[in-house]
Amino acid sequence: MSPGVAVLVASVAALGGLLFGYDTAVINGAVGAIDDRFNASSLALGLTVSAALIGSAVGALLAGRLADRYGRLHTMRVAAALFLVSAVGSGLAWSLLTLAVFRVVGGVAVGIASVIAPAYIAEISPARIRGRLGSLQQLAIVSGIFLALLVDYAIAAAAGGSKADFALGLEAWRWMFLAMTVPAVVYGVLSLTIPESPRHLVAKGRIEEARAVLRRLLGEAGLDHKIAQIRETLTLERPPSMRDLHGPALGLLPIVWVGIGLSVFQQFVGINVIFYYSSVLWQAVGFSEGNALLITVITSVVNILTTLVAIALIDRLGRRPLLLIGSAGMAVTLGILSFVFANAPLNAQGLPELAGAAGPIALLAANVFVFAFGMSWGPVVWVLLGETFPNRIRAAALSVAAAAQWIANWVVSTTFPSLKDAGLGLAYGIYTAAAVLSFFFVLKFVRETKGRELEEMGR
Ligand code: GLC
Repeated sequence: MSPGVAVLVASVAALGGLLFGYDTAVINGAVGAIDDRFNASSLALGLTVSAALIGSAVGALLAGRLADRYGRLHTMRVAAALFLVSAVGSGLAWSLLTLAVFRVVGGVAVGIASVIAPAYIAEISPARIRGRLGSLQQLAIVSGIFLALLVDYAIAAAAGGSKADFALGLEAWRWMFLAMTVPAVVYGVLSLTIPESPRHLVAKGRIEEARAVLRRLLGEAGLDHKIAQIRETLTLERPPSMRDLHGPALGLLPIVWVGIGLSVFQQFVGINVIFYYSSVLWQAVGFSEGNALLITVITSVVNILTTLVAIALIDRLGRRPLLLIGSAGMAVTLGILSFVFANAPLNAQGLPELAGAAGPIALLAANVFVFAFGMSWGPVVWVLLGETFPNRIRAAALSVAAAAQWIANWVVSTTFPSLKDAGLGLAYGIYTAAAVLSFFFVLKFVRETKGRELEEMGR
């Protein structure tokens, strides 16, 4: 038995999550300067941001095909290459359009990474610790978000502002993107050192190679039995494909719908409103710019620490209890936010003014919300998407569920600005409703996967 190997191998795959987090968050520190440099309207900027999310949906859909046809490792390398192209291209962009194009390329990479990391990690993990290893993906995502914040801040501070020259005659904001070349190259190079997924190898009929990989990951005991089990779950006459997802429930297998539901609820509780709009939000309700940034930093640290709680609990308590606790915690905290915002007097811009105790209560509620999400729906959804589908449809089903997640993310982030104008109480009221529904969704549709072998899924 060598869980050590599995941990190392899973960590390399999780680097895709780090880039996913970095790429989605880096724009925050650059946005003001881009605005200036290219004279962009906020509409054009908003479109650039949302185009990247649509790129991620497309990348997620592509990833399933790539992963089944060319293997999990080659798919990671495609993502690494696209991250690199996007980092260099966005950093050197000469117009808003070129920037948008390279942001979309980065979005596609994010989408691919969002599929390939959970699938691969589930496929190389011993069942006993699969939840913990799968949660590394979320740990990497939230660390990537934090890293982007840090890099943005450090570069802007060193240059004396995001529009100031930093090095080689390039402005600071450009270096925020260029900095992503480092993790992109590390990810690409390290992907050359890890083994192909044994489940994919079996699907391709490469049994001896699969046996060698499984020996490294799980040890000698029960090896033949494991191979036989995996073979049984993969009909070898025809390679796995998107066609396998067809089922009676509105054209898709019920389990695929469960994956889509998990994805959509994970986004509809509004987590990314906190991450994409937090500075704007906290400033709007009366905090100074410096304090708003500080709050954003604290929130992302909370997000990292809370993932550790999930890692400690997921293989002991199981996935379902975490999700249920998370839904309850999110419903309460979102409800409080909705109430506080709905009952505050409005300022000149029509936004609630948080006076007296309302400010600290909202802050506390927002951070407890991030805590509740980070110990549950954040990591657990990625873990479940990686492990809950049978071997044969894993990549394809995960692809569809992740694409749904990116579309849901896009819906939430593009509707938030108008919802905010209509009333923050309303916006948070909608997210509260989603959290309440998510509780019942889990109760009724989500099955526990803790400790079960991937070969038992779908039985
Ligand atoms: C999950 C979500 C992602 C979000 C992150 C924040 O990974 O999928 O959209 O940004 O959690 O913690």
